[in-house]
Amino acid sequence: MKEKRVNIAIDGPSGVGKTVMANMIAKKFNYKFLSSGNFYRIIAYNALKNNIDLTNEALINEAWKFEDIKILDDDSILFKNEDITKKIREDKISRSASIIAKFPLIRQKINKFIQEYAKKFRGVIIDGRDATYRILPEADVKFFLYANPEVRAKRRVNQDKEMGIESNYEEVLKSIKIRDYEDMNRAVDPLKVSEGSVMIDTSNMTVQENFEAMYKIILKELE
Ligand code: DC
Repeated sequence: MKEKRVNIAIDGPSGVGKTVMANMIAKKFNYKFLSSGNFYRIIAYNALKNNIDLTNEALINEAWKFEDIKILDDDSILFKNEDITKKIREDKISRSASIIAKFPLIRQKINKFIQEYAKKFRGVIIDGRDATYRILPEADVKFFLYANPEVRAKRRVNQDKEMGIESNYEEVLKSIKIRDYEDMNRAVDPLKVSEGSVMIDTSNMTVQENFEAMYKIILKELE
């Protein structure tokens, strides 16, 4: 009998640990993880690099194509053959990504790519803000991860340190609060707990506890 595989969508605010969880789940089940936020970051990086006005949706969208992006097996990201894996984590890029993520044309182009990818494979994990209700509404398991802003800022600073990026707690916290507001209050595909999503508050959970909470729910779906 063929092994049952499920598609998983994870939404939640910036810095809540979606990527860490998605990577752990991907490893455990041998699934493929695609972070939709990375696409917003890549496009923001390209716009900044080319001095494109961040309010000009058409110009930003014309300045990139899917063939420019390569995701290697070790998850490093190449854009026009440049390794930008670390660069797109910088706070400047996070802020710009949040601005351009409001544009419907950019969202449509990114979603189309991810949906086609998910159709080809089964056993795909997608994370984002609208993964559970816009990118992959038919996902078998849907999660909404939450943690308060202070906890998230602390985690992000530690994560940056591990990646060799220096960051300041107060600045990161401020930036997280701004991004939360932007992500939840925008007109197009705002961050929300969608119908059918399991909400997990991870504020007081260790990484392992968070993973186990999700793992149990996925196992139930695989029964
Ligand atoms: O998850 P992240 O921090 O890498 O996302 C970067 C930005 O992109 C963030 O401000 C929210 C936005 N985003 C979005 O609007 N929709 C998604 N599906 C994923 C990310």
